Amino acid sequence: MAKKSNKNASYTVPGLTTTEGHALADTLQQRLNALNDLQLTLKHAHWNVVGPNFISVHEMLDPQIETVRSFVDEVAERMATMGVSPVGLPGAIVASRTWDDYDVMRATGVEHLAALDLVYNGVIKDHRKAIEKAGKVDPITEDMLIGQVKELELFQWFMRSHIESASGQLENSSASTEKGAAKSVAADKSAKSIKSAQALKPGKLAKGEKSAKKK
Ligand SMILES: [Fe+2]
Repeated sequence: MAKKSNKNASYTVPGLTTTEGHALADTLQQRLNALNDLQLTLKHAHWNVVGPNFISVHEMLDPQIETVRSFVDEVAERMATMGVSPVGLPGAIVASRTWDDYDVMRATGVEHLAALDLVYNGVIKDHRKAIEKAGKVDPITEDMLIGQVKELELFQWFMRSHIESASGQLENSSASTEKGAAKSVAADKSAKSIKSAQALKPGKLAKGEKSAKKK
């Protein structure tokens, strides 16, 4: 005889009905999956970044990973507090997630950052939807999610700053896939550097460049 599921406790937090509390905790399960996926994806980029910006991007990612891991723990423990067992197992995450794996392997710093910008878009948009749901029944969960989005959006800005032009345009703005985002900055950068290299005659200084001899 199959054992009765013990996923849900008989209680939730005070002031909410058990049905309300458990339903909101179920919403948090998807946020838990997304954050678990995000911290692994950020580590993947940390290991696969190459090129001149290697150390700055490699080291920029670790504090983000640590913070996202703390959010994983915070969301899981909020679920347990609300009377629903958090599921942190890899198979369950893969079975229930609504997105594909990050698909950039070895790539330059800006290529990873352009692709990760899209990853952040997805996580943040869904976090905001969860904030809306939480706001209807539980300001405590809402407050937790708002605090997380504030940090996630700050991290996304760190990434966007690397792919933003002086006029405020994001170089990956027309991309809808991670590979496309990486490609858009790679093509742009190489096209620009080829163009500026061709414009320079041997011995001629670039615009704004000063001769060292004048010092
Ligand atoms: Fe490392």
